[in-house]
Amino acid sequence: MADESPFRRVLLVGFMGSGKSTVGRALALRLGWDFLDFDAVIEEEAGRSVSRIFRELGEERFRALESRVGRELLARERAVLATGGGWPAAPGRMEGLDPVTLSVWLRVSPEEAVRRARSQGDTRPLLQTEAPVERARTLLEARIPFYGRARLALDSEAAGPEALVRRIAREMGMPAEPALPNEP
Ligand code: S3P
Repeated sequence: MADESPFRRVLLVGFMGSGKSTVGRALALRLGWDFLDFDAVIEEEAGRSVSRIFRELGEERFRALESRVGRELLARERAVLATGGGWPAAPGRMEGLDPVTLSVWLRVSPEEAVRRARSQGDTRPLLQTEAPVERARTLLEARIPFYGRARLALDSEAAGPEALVRRIAREMGMPAEPALPNEP
């Protein structure tokens, strides 16, 4: 069914803690497509966690890896892709997406982003500061013009993952619920 959609991939963008991985995994299941997470691929290639990459190699090296992995994953079809929060924030990235990519911005407030990040432990090096909410607010403000180029913007606090999946599936032209198997 998803293969009849005009879209061949979905790209989830948004700030840290916006639910890109949770929604992406559930959406991929619903579509019968692959789910690929930029950070997970980077971690596998670098053989260490994002936190360790930042600490041991520096942010610049992380961004170079992210750029390369992004190019590779954006060539995949029948795939739901979750970027890291910083990937869209470089000139040309969002503008360069081809028309068969459905880009979706999952919106989250800085307060909720920090709350969710905290609950996942020491996984977000950019929020390891004395004042993480202020840091998140500043970063998010600078990124809004980039995230705002996505075709669809959804509030990830007002709706849970299942509702978000339904909304994205509808945008792809899928029926409201999965087709029921035929009765014998
Ligand atoms: C980052 C977001 C993180 C990860 C890295 C940098 C950012 O990904 O790529 O810590 O610059 O916003 P998530 O958005 O999946 O947390």
